[in-house]
Amino acid sequence: MYQWLDERLEISRLYHKFLRKAFPVHHSFFLGEITLFAFITLVLTGIFLTLNYEPSIRPTELPDGRTVPAAYASVLYIDSLPFGAVIRSIHHWSAHIMIAAAFLHMLRVLLSGAYKKPRELNWLVGLGLLGLAVVTAFTGYALPYDNYAVTATRIGYGIGASIPWVGPTVAQIMFGGEFPGSEMAIPRLYSLHVLWLPLTLIALISLHMVIMIKQKHTQPKYAERIAPGKILGVPMYPQQLVMMSIVFLLYLAVVSFIGGVFIAHPIEAFGPPTPQTPAVKPDWYFLWIYGILQVIPSEWQFRLFGALISPEFLGGVVVPGILILAAVLLPFVDTRSDKQRYLELPSQHPLRTSVTLGVLVFFIMATLAGYKIDFQQAGSPLGDNRVLWVLLLVVPAVTTLVSFVLIKNLYGAKNEASGQLEPKAGD
Ligand code: HEM
Repeated sequence: MYQWLDERLEISRLYHKFLRKAFPVHHSFFLGEITLFAFITLVLTGIFLTLNYEPSIRPTELPDGRTVPAAYASVLYIDSLPFGAVIRSIHHWSAHIMIAAAFLHMLRVLLSGAYKKPRELNWLVGLGLLGLAVVTAFTGYALPYDNYAVTATRIGYGIGASIPWVGPTVAQIMFGGEFPGSEMAIPRLYSLHVLWLPLTLIALISLHMVIMIKQKHTQPKYAERIAPGKILGVPMYPQQLVMMSIVFLLYLAVVSFIGGVFIAHPIEAFGPPTPQTPAVKPDWYFLWIYGILQVIPSEWQFRLFGALISPEFLGGVVVPGILILAAVLLPFVDTRSDKQRYLELPSQHPLRTSVTLGVLVFFIMATLAGYKIDFQQAGSPLGDNRVLWVLLLVVPAVTTLVSFVLIKNLYGAKNEASGQLEPKAGD
């Protein structure tokens, strides 16, 4: 059979050209793979969900006599199928894991300097992937059409619609009209969630992998000592493939356990949408944006060329936009090395490491601000806006400064001795 195929498709040439390629081994490289495995799991479990889900809000009568939106009824039906609730939970938790793993993978690339020339393009493709993963998760939020999901999606709708000039068009494309209210919203979010966004993700992941194979992976530092100038690693086939398969099976085992024990988003408990808005918080990856919205005073609004610049726009679009812009520009600003073959150590790059730590602390503080109302109800000083502003601005700045001084003092002498500290332009 192999010979028959080889005579026609020359698969042995393919094997020698691609599958014998050395793949450097480092535990942090599994983060990109875990992101990929979470995405594959999302597609597989998503296929099962689409077969049983009804993307409509038409009134439907349940066996117990209640009239609810069809989407809500179909998710109740999914939960009643054998393993239905578990598969829905695996889908839900895989979305969380994909976003967390993609973020940690980005941090690894950032802290090891793997975004530098020649990998700028793959850094940008990666940023696009992370953004798309978050948007895809958001479009899935409203689909169960329970009270909680509808309220959480309404917050996102408000942010999208607040963008000056283009907001109404963005809202129209994503929701097909006002949300909640528009009959088109669920069919529109559904087609984005199960077709257009996953197809774009598949195309971008393929591009990400092709670029990575073409440019070769960065290597752990020890490779420079053992085999200078060479790629040190295991062949793609069979060794790397076996390791990847083991990690995939482990991933499936862990996520199935989590999905079986922690049933996600119990829609029966939330009930169908009602005119009363329940107190909801978005998922953890949106909570920092929600936190910023909590601390921006409602009077911070003005008109610019006829358009309203609202607090939603400032907190939900401008602040994340600044961080995204900084990430986009990073590989074009930090051009200190053009021989990016080896992983850089965070201790050898105090400025980059300390700024990264500062931004991470900013995310944590903004997430904390997301609990402002809970702090107020508990009578905690953290419910005070002034305290939250200090936490948001001062704590990240102090973290950056202190970590910079610490890294310089702890590792500076060592780095200078080995000539590694913050190489200058052209190094
Ligand atoms: C759906 C999301 C993503 C998937 C499935 C994915 C997958 C992968 C895989 C499997 C690798 C090789 C193994 C590794 O280095 O971990 C890789 C490398 C890489 N990824 Fe991603 N990635 C994603 C998102 C991102 C993000 C958010 C960034 C950064 C903004 C990024 C930037 C890179 C770069 C620059 C490399 C080459 C790293 C090197 O040579 O050391 N990726 N990606």
